[in-house]
Amino acid sequence: MRRKVIAGNWKMNKTPNETKKFIEELKALVANTENEVIICVPFIDLATAIEMTKDTNIKVGAQNMHFKANGAYTGEISANMLTEIGTEYVILGHSERRQYYNETDETVNLKLKVAFENGLKPIVCVGESLKQREDGVTKNVITTQTRLALDGLTNELVEKTVIAYEPIWAIGTGKTASNEDANDAIKTIREEIANIYGNETAEKVIIQYGGSVKSSNAKELFEMSDIDGGLVGGASLEPQEFSKIVNYDK
Ligand code: 13P
Repeated sequence: MRRKVIAGNWKMNKTPNETKKFIEELKALVANTENEVIICVPFIDLATAIEMTKDTNIKVGAQNMHFKANGAYTGEISANMLTEIGTEYVILGHSERRQYYNETDETVNLKLKVAFENGLKPIVCVGESLKQREDGVTKNVITTQTRLALDGLTNELVEKTVIAYEPIWAIGTGKTASNEDANDAIKTIREEIANIYGNETAEKVIIQYGGSVKSSNAKELFEMSDIDGGLVGGASLEPQEFSKIVNYDK
């Protein structure tokens, strides 16, 4: 049985002081869950989040990183900078980074390899736009993104990659994919992984759903056969609401 992994993606929200307050409240609310709980915070909040989550079951992730170890890349952060302060996870290839910051399948693949080389656990985002869905190319888009992201990885590393299926039209819009559509897309991603890396590996990969997940729809989504938890944006910014999503099975 795959575990459920529920990650908050704060995007560009919360200062270090707000991070401290959030975790003080969240930690008791999620202390009894068996699900994996992750908060992916802005770079500036990482040190505070890591300190505040010591001796808790909450794990901390970043939202991006560069694929180079160091150099003249103004404003960027490398994998070893993240691991030195104790960051465990990193989101790679979020649609907002693909859309606004020139993230490509190629850079996602480079970053994925560098994340593993540095001991970070990656959460790789894939998903189609509204136009692509309307044009009927969803399957092609998500299988291509998945294949190119994982290209060159060993089976062992593929099994350790968390994938988040996030249809772009469902992000921040209040429109959630139907349970069946989300589950079908995730099955498609799993089949693509099975075609390349075999069934045994594909069955182990955690594939989350993301896009307007909230406490009122988390249970029905996460109980679907192939949805292994969620990557949660807006609804992860408030401890009570986020804890209800984490505790969807209580
Ligand atoms: P929302 O939950 O705000 O729709 O954001 C989803 C997302 O992009 C998480 O990475």
